[in-house]
Amino acid sequence: TRTYSIAVIPGDGIGKEIVPPAQAVLEKATKGLVNFDYETFDLGAERYLRDGSTLPDEELNRIKNKDAILLGAVGDPRIKAGIIERGLLLKLRFALDQYVNLRPSKLFEGVTSPLANPGKIDFVVVREGTEGLYVGAGGAIRRGTPHEVATEVSINTAFGVERVVRYAFALAMKRRRHVTLVHKKNVLTNAGDMWQRIVDAVAKEFPEVTTDYQHVDAATIFIVTDPSRFDVILTDNLFGDIITDEAGAVVGGVGYSASGNINASNEYPSMFEPIHGSAPDIAGKGIANPTAAILSTALMLRHLGFDDPADRIETAVEADIKESATAKRSTAEVGSDILARL
Ligand code: IPM
Ligand code: MN
Repeated sequence: TRTYSIAVIPGDGIGKEIVPPAQAVLEKATKGLVNFDYETFDLGAERYLRDGSTLPDEELNRIKNKDAILLGAVGDPRIKAGIIERGLLLKLRFALDQYVNLRPSKLFEGVTSPLANPGKIDFVVVREGTEGLYVGAGGAIRRGTPHEVATEVSINTAFGVERVVRYAFALAMKRRRHVTLVHKKNVLTNAGDMWQRIVDAVAKEFPEVTTDYQHVDAATIFIVTDPSRFDVILTDNLFGDIITDEAGAVVGGVGYSASGNINASNEYPSMFEPIHGSAPDIAGKGIANPTAAILSTALMLRHLGFDDPADRIETAVEADIKESATAKRSTAEVGSDILARL
């Protein structure tokens, strides 16, 4: 049994509470099969408030040498928006070249969707993770004057788009073989046209995969009116950010939504995190639901090549949700209920 070294970043608020049950599930599901060696990193809003650092080089370099990263949640209302986001979370995604932001949405049996007729919802958003409007290209001049100019430039490279497009098609081959490109090519004619051409070219190599296209505004409608039409949704960084929150809502809330920030070429570690945030309003009470964090460990195992324990974790979570989704349980209770099913 090989040992995998994992960087654990519990982060802030409920992040600290949901990571331990996730680690316990990971341990039990892989007992005798994989060894994990954890190193916990004190990063996040609290660290920033204490010493002003978000992600020092020395810690980034140590993280770079891990096999994977498990992240709870980061953020704190006391800190100006953007500091932790850019200084820690996005810095990790960019520095570790995590170009696939993988976000599955599945409506589990036992969970109430806000949709009257949800049907069967089971799709995955493949969100580009290192380009687009998130790169921070642009700037501000004449700041604070009436003539202030602020620009945010969306960067889309053929290289960056092609690699995420290929990932989406390969993933579709393992699923229902359908890829929907979501963009806004009627207005963003430069980037949209390039995305579409690259999709068309890659599609030729995957004759079994059917493809279609939706403008992002239309896609937000179909996600609530006909979500079962989707299998793999492929989109850029910002559109993907927005539609995955909507996707989380239609499957009963982001409390069930896991995600992977994946460097599919395995040059650097990939990072697995629940989609939800640090939830300062319920932090410290021991009532946060660890399900999304637990599902994130399954994504991590799949990425590391361990499909069996990943399947077992997902099966245990599905059974737990089916039986107890509406029960009032503490973080520890949900964790031990899922553990007991493994
Ligand atoms: C997410 C979050 C982040 C994003 C923020 C916190 C930078 O909303 O993971 O979806 O925009 O990607
Ligand atoms: Mn988001």
